[in-house]
Amino acid sequence: MRIVLALVAVGVLAGIAWAGGQSPAMQAFLAIVAPYVAIAVFVVGIGARVIGWARSAVPFRIPTTCGQERSLSFIRFSPLDNPSSSLGAVGRMALEVLTFRSLFRNTRAELKPGGRLVYSSDKWLWAGALLFHYSFLAVFLRHYRFFVEPVPKVIAVLQGLDGFFQVGVPVFFLTSFGLIAGLGYLLARRLVDARMRYLSLPADYFPLFLLLGIALTGIGMRHLWKVDIVRVKELAIGLVNFHPAVPQGVGPLFYVHLFLVSALLAYFPFSKLVHMAGVFLSPTRNLANNNRAVRHLNPWNPPIVGHTYAEWEEEFHDKMKAAGLPLDRE
Ligand code: HEM
Repeated sequence: MRIVLALVAVGVLAGIAWAGGQSPAMQAFLAIVAPYVAIAVFVVGIGARVIGWARSAVPFRIPTTCGQERSLSFIRFSPLDNPSSSLGAVGRMALEVLTFRSLFRNTRAELKPGGRLVYSSDKWLWAGALLFHYSFLAVFLRHYRFFVEPVPKVIAVLQGLDGFFQVGVPVFFLTSFGLIAGLGYLLARRLVDARMRYLSLPADYFPLFLLLGIALTGIGMRHLWKVDIVRVKELAIGLVNFHPAVPQGVGPLFYVHLFLVSALLAYFPFSKLVHMAGVFLSPTRNLANNNRAVRHLNPWNPPIVGHTYAEWEEEFHDKMKAAGLPLDRE
């Protein structure tokens, strides 16, 4: 049911764009209004989330680390897993963001016959996630060619590398298929395993279907139902320069592609996808573990009004003396 709900939601969005792509009034909405609204929601939404996180108090130093701390002389120090300085924390964060280091340690727990719980290493999620994210990045960067003229050299080089094998006309890009393979794995992982299916919500399936829809319509436009790239580029440059015009003679598949991208952008700040920004503001990751070297005080601690023993003895002096208790001050 949850899978169907997510699939129907993406289907409805695609259907609206397909039908709208054939009516001039709706074309203006799909090509101009929807992308601008989506970008505004994305920028303001992400900005609000980041400001919200940045303003949240972090009264304690709570990095998640291994035990290999610098101050423990009997064990080898692990500067990247348990950084003792801000530079180390930056290094750890870089490894996390660029190589998904914590996901590399993903484990699978299985109950064997006889009730034995067995943990084993599971690298597939790490590999699938890397494939998806890096393919997405490459596809995203390659799209830059639509938005600027002349196309920067670095984008042309990236495009050349991506189509290195020169298969097909126009050439197939490795990352277009890497994107589909990565998304396919991430989806299959939720569908095949009964436990994962039980845990998955429409909010887990929806972004996967949305991204698959974007990738499949993109590949469709490049290899099967060609669109007029010159018109698309005019629209894209027009959007960037704030004088867009509705492109003439561009098929409805392009409107589906663009509308799904707009939906993705508008949905982004309210969804789990916002981990893209959140990972940098996570105090369990971005702090150095110097708890034993530096005394961290909670800034919210109320001022403590002390009551020393001397003051206490002063207060109960007579009663203590009457009871025959020893006194510091006679
Ligand atoms: C999240 C953003 C986007 C993703 C993930 C995405 C994905 C894709 C993919 C996978 C392809 C297949 C060919 C390739 O890999 O280059 C493609 C093609 C295409 N995309 Fe996108 N796209 C995005 C945004 C856009 C935007 C904003 C536009 C509008 C300017 C656009 C217009 C096109 C066009 C015209 C093609 C066909 C390219 C060709 O024939 O060479 N895409 N897209």
